[in-house]
Order: sequence, then structure tokens, then C-alpha cells
Amino acid sequence: MKKNVILYWAPGGNVEKNAKRIHELLAGHDFELMDLASFDTNEVENIQRFIFGIATIGAEIWHDATGDNYWNDFFVKNENVSFEGKQFAFFGLGDQVLYPDHFVDALGYLKEEVEKRNGTIVGQWPVDGYTFTDSEGAADGKFFGLALDEDKQDHLTPERIQKWVAQIKKEMQL
Ligand SMILES: Cc1cc2nc3c(=O)[nH]c(=O)nc-3n(C[C@H](O)[C@H](O)[C@H](O)COP(=O)(O)O)c2cc1C
Repeated sequence: MKKNVILYWAPGGNVEKNAKRIHELLAGHDFELMDLASFDTNEVENIQRFIFGIATIGAEIWHDATGDNYWNDFFVKNENVSFEGKQFAFFGLGDQVLYPDHFVDALGYLKEEVEKRNGTIVGQWPVDGYTFTDSEGAADGKFFGLALDEDKQDHLTPERIQKWVAQIKKEMQL
């Protein structure tokens, strides 16, 4: 039987904290929680559902093949792998006050990389309740995944996660 995973990078901060919250709410649905560096890329074919967690910390970081950028590493290793028939949901950390022109841009990066490989994306999330001017992580009033702002709206995070997990459970038919 195929497996489900929550993959996040980087560890030790807000992404990991919220990956754990999401994992708890998905208890009983066979999701393994792992940081991206611990994930064996050869396992991709054995996985049915992916949840990716990422923080926006500057575009150069994602495309940089050097250093500890495991997102780049993951997508490069899967350059020619088809994601057809697999489901993907994203959550992205950002700060809408300090970075209003680039709020959760990284959700756009994940969307692009997954669409290139024909994966199915679920878990789009309304932009209502956030204040920002531009984002590569949103279009037509929706983020491409759950946007979380632990710097400026941490009080809203638990409820957002609860609603979003309920939404993806339906969309992923869990
Ligand atoms: C150097 C740096 C650059 C950042 N750039 C952005 C940005 O462009 N857009 C955004 O929404 N948030 C940006 N942030 C905010 C982080 O995404 C946010 O603080 C997030 O919660 C960090 O997650 P982490 O603790 O897992 O690293 C930036 C933070 C840092 C430190």
C-alpha cells in the first residue's frame, strides 16, 4: 500500500512547529512526519499523498543548489519523475508585515515544481484575513496552500490549521 508523508524544511523553527501540529491533526491517516533531509528520494514512487511545509526566506535560497537547501535538492533529484496520480498540499510560513510584497512567495515555487511533474494540488486557501500587497504564492484570491504568519498572526494559526486540515481531509478523501 502507498504511504503518505509530511515533508518540511527547514527544521528547528516555525515550519517544523506547524508541521507537528498538522501531523497531530492527521493522526490515524497514516502520515509520516519527516524533515526533507531525512527523506529518501527513492521513496517518492511509494507515496500517494504529500504535504510540503516551507518558509519564504528569499527566492535565491530555493534555487540555490549549494548549502543546506533541501528543496532544491529534492526537485533536482526528481527532475524527470512524474507526480501524476499523486496528491500534494502545501503550507507556507511568512511575515506579511515585513515582507508585504513577497508574502509566502515560496508557495508559488512549490506549485510550479509540482505542476511541472503533473502532480495534483489540493488545499488552496482564501487570502481573506491577511494584509499584503503581492505574493507569488497566490492568484485569484487564493493562496496555493495554507499561509501561516507566526510573526504577526500567531494567535490565528491553530484555527487556520484546524480548518485547513479538515479541508484537505475532504479533498484528499481521507
Ligand atoms: C532572511 C529572511 C527573509 C525572509 N523573507 C520573507 C519573505 O520574502 N516573505 C515572507 O513572507 N516572509 C519572509 N520571512 C519570514 C519568515 O518566512 C518567517 O519568519 C517564518 O516563520 C520563518 O520560519 P522558520 O522559523 O521555520 O525559519 C523572512 C525571514 C527571514 C529571516
